[in-house]
Amino acid sequence: CGIVGYTGHQQAVPVLIDGLRRLEYRGYDSAGIVVPENGGLTVQKRAGTLDVLVQALCDCRFTATSGIGHTRWATHGAPTDVNAHPHTDCSGRLAVVHNGIIENYHRLRSWLKAEGHVFRSDTDTEVLPHLIEQFYRGNLYQAVLEALERVEGSFALLALTVDEPERLVTARQDSPLVIGVGERENFIASDIPALLAHTRDTYLLNDGELAEVTPDGVRISDFHGRPLAREIFQVHWEAEQAEKAGYDHFMLKEIHEQPRALRDTLRGRIDDDCRRAVLDELNLEPGFVKNLNKIFVTACGTAFHAGVVGKYIIEKLVRLPVEVDIASEFRYRDPLIGPGDLVVVVSQSGETADTRAALREAKSRGARVVAITNVVGSSIAREADSVLYTWAGPEIAVASTKAYVTQLAAFYLLAVWLAGERGALPGEEREDLLRALRELHHGVGQILAGAGEIAALARRYHQRHCLFFIGRGLDYAVAMEGSLKLKEISYIHAEAYAAGELKHGTLALITEGVPVIALATQPELFEKTLSNIKEVKARGAEVVTLTFQGDHDSEELGDFRVYLPPTHPFLAPILTVVPLQLFAYYAAVYRGCSVDKPRNLAKSVTVE
Ligand code: G6P
Repeated sequence: CGIVGYTGHQQAVPVLIDGLRRLEYRGYDSAGIVVPENGGLTVQKRAGTLDVLVQALCDCRFTATSGIGHTRWATHGAPTDVNAHPHTDCSGRLAVVHNGIIENYHRLRSWLKAEGHVFRSDTDTEVLPHLIEQFYRGNLYQAVLEALERVEGSFALLALTVDEPERLVTARQDSPLVIGVGERENFIASDIPALLAHTRDTYLLNDGELAEVTPDGVRISDFHGRPLAREIFQVHWEAEQAEKAGYDHFMLKEIHEQPRALRDTLRGRIDDDCRRAVLDELNLEPGFVKNLNKIFVTACGTAFHAGVVGKYIIEKLVRLPVEVDIASEFRYRDPLIGPGDLVVVVSQSGETADTRAALREAKSRGARVVAITNVVGSSIAREADSVLYTWAGPEIAVASTKAYVTQLAAFYLLAVWLAGERGALPGEEREDLLRALRELHHGVGQILAGAGEIAALARRYHQRHCLFFIGRGLDYAVAMEGSLKLKEISYIHAEAYAAGELKHGTLALITEGVPVIALATQPELFEKTLSNIKEVKARGAEVVTLTFQGDHDSEELGDFRVYLPPTHPFLAPILTVVPLQLFAYYAAVYRGCSVDKPRNLAKSVTVE
């Protein structure tokens, strides 16, 4: 979900709507705002996209110079007008927007009902305005402090009362919040893109902190009211970076940003003569690295798929065992992990609840944690022992693209660095890899220049109901991501299969005309994959093969071939995924799908 707040000298409603527009990607099944007007609170909220709310606001005249707003991705309670935020107390004089989950809301609700509070929605959030009202005696900040003593769960909350119309009170526990600092005006948001049109000076709130925000000041304290000093954090993202820059969709824009994202992520991290990966940000002592026992990688969604590639990369280069786990599995499986182990958590947003929980699980067992994340100052970045930032820039489309490619780059760097520290990889091999990695953005650019060819394949197959991706080794890992991309945005049922495993069951689904996308980039596995291609061709499949140009007979490679620009084959995943992203994108466009905001999905899932 997304939160915005404003208090200052401008009319609040346009500021709130603009902020919500930039946060829509965080949740979009309903939206709402509240402003103090004519001695009361005016609440407008609607199920549906932000445009439905904007339409509803057309006939309203507002003069308020403060207000709060929200876009919702439903957790407790269906996406309806009533369940949309903001929620108000009984008097209608106090309102709250909230991201996260109030875990003890049942208990609080029963108690508040017994105290005479009347509830209207099915949400857990609604306990917050009632609870704050219960303690309100003319000071919103004090009332929120008292309310928080009773609240369990995760929240980024923002409260407003008509009795102190210029004052906003906001608090954070396990869900991000940023305060934007302006001239005689201040802003609050759950994410930085909502602030960029107004200011680059921000305060990042930590868990267990709240802030009182007025046009002239920001006062940060802990949940006991003890004041905290905070430095301004300057955001360097350009505002236009967070917009579409002329592309039809954020996803396409972000796919095309990959050469830049890759360059930025590698910048300064490969030494001039390509002998070493330079990762000074990793504060891992040589002794720890030398005696490393085992490496774990854990993440969700696309970041997990980057982790699967990461496993192959690290095992091959560092010769240490790597386990890769979905974060929601890792956190509950009582993992055999302890001091001497390294856990790599991967998260574009740095806020995914399951990944955060996995990080904590790892730390509580004494392991060291390195985070690969794209968001500076995110919760995961702050909780990890070391952070390896990807410099992809803000990623808006729900389907992750440039974040994945930069996560792969981070894994290559990390593996080469570890291999260097442990003397696991001969110098010339390290040099070959780093040199190729540094140049790889050219190859990505070449694939993008040939996007038309991929669009034509997508047009051919966009009406199919099911499709398979096959590959071995690194190709299998990338196939998993290709399949996820297609599913999440085009809604075509796709499956990724280890090519050698097909014959053990799934081959039964290969019938006349079923499309199979075969990835065959790894020289040592090429012949094996070729025989799998023959297997599916013999059952009538139509095969599209992604490979490097070679001296093989092109007929053997299936019905269509997509040739990748030459590079070190071990780096192939960074190239191979690009045509798969484009394929998913164009298939979704031809099917008329909502590319940037696929149904039922959210960009950042900050609830379990
Ligand atoms: C959500 C998104 C996915 C993303 C996953 C992990 O499910 O829809 O695209 O891969 O979260 O997000 P993270 O921010 O932790 O990488």
